[in-house]
Amino acid sequence: MSTLELLLIEASPRKANATSSQLGRRLAGALQEQCGSTVVLTERHLGAQPLPPMSAEYAESLLLPYDEALDRYGEHLELSDELVAELERADIVVIASPVHNFTVPAALKLWIDLVVRNGVTFRNTPEGKVGLLRDRPVLVAVTSGGAMFRDPPKQPDFFRPYLSAALGVVGLRNISYVQATGLAFVDEPLAQAASAADAWIAASLQGFLQSV
Ligand SMILES: Cc1cc2nc3c(=O)[nH]c(=O)nc-3n(C[C@H](O)[C@H](O)[C@H](O)COP(=O)(O)O)c2cc1C
Repeated sequence: MSTLELLLIEASPRKANATSSQLGRRLAGALQEQCGSTVVLTERHLGAQPLPPMSAEYAESLLLPYDEALDRYGEHLELSDELVAELERADIVVIASPVHNFTVPAALKLWIDLVVRNGVTFRNTPEGKVGLLRDRPVLVAVTSGGAMFRDPPKQPDFFRPYLSAALGVVGLRNISYVQATGLAFVDEPLAQAASAADAWIAASLQGFLQSV
């Protein structure tokens, strides 16, 4: 039996009450059960155990070519290196995140700022940024309190276009979204998130696994 690496990233600060974690963990659990491989799971709890704020040195390093950045700021790049290595190792990525003010929570944005690195995960070309990571399936489990992702829109969606663009910069283009919305208006938001996961598992999990 082959081995698959699954990276599960959780972005809610709400720990046990987090609807996005409920959604994402249920999806990740089903992927583990049904993929037919032994799964090595790596978890990043960005909301409950936030990454440290971006340092001045890291921000300076991003303005330099890769070799010079390494020479001058090597020790300040260790966390970013670790996060990039985690992402690079993963065969499947599951991102569980709430919508915060129409887009990704600050905790997830910080992770993005630490993995989008010139000369490491993308390179600049005359045509624009080109991702350096191999593509792999990314499943985004997203929850919101209000009426996100409606057509016609009731709230602007900066979440999916932004996250897809940011992941696209590093080469991740195979992105699927599973959403549970309007959770502020239901009696049991965790149960609602679980139902959304189960519906996706029944309808789409096998298709998703074909792209692994
Ligand atoms: C800071 C903050 C901003 C939020 N912004 C929005 C928003 O723009 N649109 C929306 O529908 N819900 C918004 N919500 C509600 C959350 O998306 C909703 O409670 C979601 O279920 C939280 O996911 P979690 O349980 O995984 O933390 C916001 C919540 C917080 C804490």
